[in-house]
Amino acid sequence: MEIRDNGQIYLEGVSVEELASAYGTPLYVYEENRIRANYRRALSAFRKYYPDTRFFYAIKANNNLAVANILRQEGAGIDAASVNEILLAKELGLGGEDVMFSGNFLSDDDIKQGLESGVIFNLDDLSLLPRVLKHGVPEMLSFRVNPGYGQCDIGAFVCNAGPDAKFGVHPDKVLDAYRAAKEAGVKRFGAHMMPGSSIRDPEYFGYVTGLLMDLIGRAGRELGIDFEFIDLGGGLGIPYKHEDSVLDIDAAAANVAKIFKEKIAEYGLKPPRLMMEPARYFVGDAGYIIGRVHTVKDSYSRIIGTDVGMNILARPALYGAYHHIYVNGREQEERMPLNLCGQLCENTDLWVRDRMLPKGTTEGDLIVVENGGAYGYAMSYQYNGRLRCGEALVNGTQHNLIRRAETFQDLIGLMNVPEYLKRN
Ligand code: LLP
Repeated sequence: MEIRDNGQIYLEGVSVEELASAYGTPLYVYEENRIRANYRRALSAFRKYYPDTRFFYAIKANNNLAVANILRQEGAGIDAASVNEILLAKELGLGGEDVMFSGNFLSDDDIKQGLESGVIFNLDDLSLLPRVLKHGVPEMLSFRVNPGYGQCDIGAFVCNAGPDAKFGVHPDKVLDAYRAAKEAGVKRFGAHMMPGSSIRDPEYFGYVTGLLMDLIGRAGRELGIDFEFIDLGGGLGIPYKHEDSVLDIDAAAANVAKIFKEKIAEYGLKPPRLMMEPARYFVGDAGYIIGRVHTVKDSYSRIIGTDVGMNILARPALYGAYHHIYVNGREQEERMPLNLCGQLCENTDLWVRDRMLPKGTTEGDLIVVENGGAYGYAMSYQYNGRLRCGEALVNGTQHNLIRRAETFQDLIGLMNVPEYLKRN
């Protein structure tokens, strides 16, 4: 993003005015070159310290196939949370060992379809093993381990491990899980964890790696099994507030690789591939939401009404998450504390309170919401009959619509009114 001398905001080489007039608002926009730069920065940091590193992209954060194709071109595999995400990976031409299925609390249908798809199966609990074995013995199997500790920069909301989390094999059951899999005839093994999201402390990554490696190392040594890969999950954070520190990715990679190698040696493991499956770090800061101010209301305080509500960006209402907002053409102007909301009939839709925004913000202005690339569109919904918006991709001065906005037909197309209800 760039604010040019005339105050106009550009995403790569395209002004937000041009994007809004081409595709309407609200609109998600992604900067292709930023996604590529983020991916390359992270991969080169990890490969510098541990050359056999591979990234899978957790497609849940942003499932637009254009975005996912950028990461596929860069060499990423896909981390899928559901059967439909496995099918999205297939649309990218990815399957087999380029895709990892890390679903949780799976139904029998999920298990069956997941196995039939032939991707790497990552089991969230030992209790799933007998249900998997009903369909035959997979050649390769991984378990998602709860290493007993998790962390998150957005309160406890996205802490995915430790005693309060619903995810992963309990630390005391890890050995039993791999033993049962080995006894069932599984030949190839992997291991996985996903202890937290949005973390900017490089120490954390080394710490949780140590926790996982101790659990996996003991299992490997005791059972005489090797791990082809150990997947450390996602979690690489980005700054949402401008005063937040930037994750030192080189330090994170160095910490991880140091402990990874130490534990490999300590437990006598055959060196596995180091895998990670970040999402936010690749796409989060490459995405923006362009919105339009429709109403300015002076009530108990001033409220700026826009078309970006919690239906378009759920994170602030759901987690109290902060997203920086720019007002196109007014960034140099005097500021005052303002509130900003969307158009939903819920007060959590007033998602910006007392923020220092340009005083002159008025009807017709465009706002630009930062860090919308991850868990933005993917978590949007149709409440109040508001429709999901479009998505565009910019690359230099080129732009393309990569998902059209929904229409009323999309809203009613899935519904069916039984004949008897149509009569008086
Ligand atoms: N792998 C697994 C198994 C995951 O569940 C996730 C995210 C990731 C990888 C990617 O994590 P990341 O690198 O993005 O931290 N909706 C929340 C985030 C939920 C994270 C869910 N799992 C938010 O808006 O902040």
